[in-house]
Amino acid sequence: MLNAKIINMMNFQINKELVSAYLYLDFANYFAEKGLNGFAHWYRVQAQEEIEHAEKFIDYLHDENEKVRLMTLDPIDHNCTNDQEVLEYGLKHEMYVTKLINEIYSEAEKLYDYRTLRFLEWFVNEQAEEEKNANELIDKYELFAIQCGSGLYQLDKELGAR
Ligand SMILES: [Fe+2]
Repeated sequence: MLNAKIINMMNFQINKELVSAYLYLDFANYFAEKGLNGFAHWYRVQAQEEIEHAEKFIDYLHDENEKVRLMTLDPIDHNCTNDQEVLEYGLKHEMYVTKLINEIYSEAEKLYDYRTLRFLEWFVNEQAEEEKNANELIDKYELFAIQCGSGLYQLDKELGAR
């Protein structure tokens, strides 16, 4: 049996992972509509990963015989107007998700909930990877793609191979 606070935080996290998928699908649409199909593909894959993250929490709650509550998804409300703003927003969002994971982790620590801590270990590592990927994307865009059509073309091709 899990502590009620942990269950609530995990249900909230399921919602936020699905919101992440929703956000990345929106990013994929943004790039697809501009004809940057590599970027669009990259964010589609990212959206799929976010659904898998939600499923990991769902499975954990089921394994612990706890109830999953699916909540309403907030509408996408960023107002990014260019590629760089989209990439930056992605990083900012991942940093927010890292904060949420850390909050569940520290609550589990307080409760001596070692099973949950072990489960969360994967997410702690994953968030480091997500922030690194988001940062790298910004760096590559700034280095090669700003005001350089062929750089943007190459980067789009690279991202399409994800
Ligand atoms: Fe995630």
